[in-house]
Amino acid sequence: MIPYKSIISIDKKRQQAVYLQLANQLIELMKSGILLPNAKLPSSRIMADLIGLHRKTIVACYDELLIQGWLVSIPKKGTYVHAELPLLKPRALEQNHKSIPSKTGFSFYKKDQSNRRLSDRKAGITYVNDGVTDVRLTPIKEIAQIYKSVCNSRLVPRHLGYGSTLGSLELRKVLVTYLNETRGIKLTLDNILITRGSQHGIYLASQLLVKSGDIIIAGTTNYISADYTFVNADAKILRIPVDDHGIDTKAVELICKKKKVKAIYVTSHHHHPTTKTMSAERRLHLLNLAQEYKFAIIEDDYDYDFHYNQAPILPLMSHDIHGQVIYIGSLCKTVAPTFRVGYMIAAKDFVTEAANLRRYIDRQGDPLLELTFARFIQSGSLNRHINKTLKVYRKRRDLFVNQLNELKEFFEFDIPAGGMAFWLRLKRPYTWDQVATIARNHKLEIGEWQRYDLNNNGHNAIRLGFATYNEEEIDSLFDKLHKTMKSLKRQVKL
Ligand SMILES: Cc1ncc(COP(=O)(O)O)c(C=O)c1O
Repeated sequence: MIPYKSIISIDKKRQQAVYLQLANQLIELMKSGILLPNAKLPSSRIMADLIGLHRKTIVACYDELLIQGWLVSIPKKGTYVHAELPLLKPRALEQNHKSIPSKTGFSFYKKDQSNRRLSDRKAGITYVNDGVTDVRLTPIKEIAQIYKSVCNSRLVPRHLGYGSTLGSLELRKVLVTYLNETRGIKLTLDNILITRGSQHGIYLASQLLVKSGDIIIAGTTNYISADYTFVNADAKILRIPVDDHGIDTKAVELICKKKKVKAIYVTSHHHHPTTKTMSAERRLHLLNLAQEYKFAIIEDDYDYDFHYNQAPILPLMSHDIHGQVIYIGSLCKTVAPTFRVGYMIAAKDFVTEAANLRRYIDRQGDPLLELTFARFIQSGSLNRHINKTLKVYRKRRDLFVNQLNELKEFFEFDIPAGGMAFWLRLKRPYTWDQVATIARNHKLEIGEWQRYDLNNNGHNAIRLGFATYNEEEIDSLFDKLHKTMKSLKRQVKL
């Protein structure tokens, strides 16, 4: 007989009922071939004695397994393992199935070439980032209050079921007004799809625009996740130079004269990663080219809200009269990345198709959250939050400037007119590889500096985010950077 007593282990402190624990363990024995088809199980009384449980528990367990079809009961004879139970590959007793295997038993396509993972943060280490929101400033209490009042409303059941794949109607209406007023985009309800952030919009656009080998133009250095999204869609990316006025549109024209271009990806307000703003002349040139050569402009306006010197430049979308632009934005940078609320604005036919495609990815957005953000924007809270964070970020940017001025021997930089990062160029002969290695000794983590130059332009630059650090943290970061550069200089001299 199977040594049930030594195999079965029941933990009465677990949340799962004892009879189910027993049933699951018996299933494992059947799946692994230890309990074979047609094998007779001990009667409930004997099993109860064998494993020290109440007889009623055994009866409940056997009943469950009978209902599930693992066992059969033959009157006056007893309880048996189902005769036609297919065996899974038998395992040795001690190799019982304890966890999901680390590798699948089938092949699949690996889509992510980047291998980028956010590692766990360790206390005491300062992490350089590429320009992210200081979530300590997020008005979370206010957002929570609005969310609560949305949930308490008698209309809440309307928002708990399946909704439109276009996203919450209330939020779409509020954004139509908001984007018309702030960005001069002449959109109507036909032109907007609520997304779960900009990345979602980039993904949808790439899936609708690209078939294998289609050409997408992007800067020689570009936002890495957009690059990978296009590569995953099987696009061929052609690179064009980026200078102080943004992407070089003459280079776009040269490509268009020779090849059929499907789309161009631009972060027109502040180019990612170089932070440069695209000049008015190039904006209009690009729009004309798009119309002439019939390509799409994917305008990722990820940090429109952060501009320190003058009013923000109107997006390309606001000048587009021929339906060439797909405008993508989100509240993830402005409020907090955790709130996956963004939008895609385009001509009606494209928005409709994007909404159809979205159905297969996540069906719809998060209606309660979207309604919360509709109220947050409508009440003026979003604008108040932007004004508040702008002041804080500008001050932090200026503190960074003061600190970086002390390190001019090593670095070149321009003062960013907007966004949340510097484009920090390291002077030769120093390399970021050296800086990153030494910085680690000083508890400073430079991060994935390689991602800014995947195409080997040799610009020797990284993005240095400034928005997340308070004054004390800025002092600490630069103290570590000073120490790093001092020891690097010593090493290079030797
Ligand atoms: C240029 C750019 N586009 C898009 C995104 C993605 O933003 P979201 O969080 O809205 O998906 C980021 C995030 O860092 C970004 O830097």
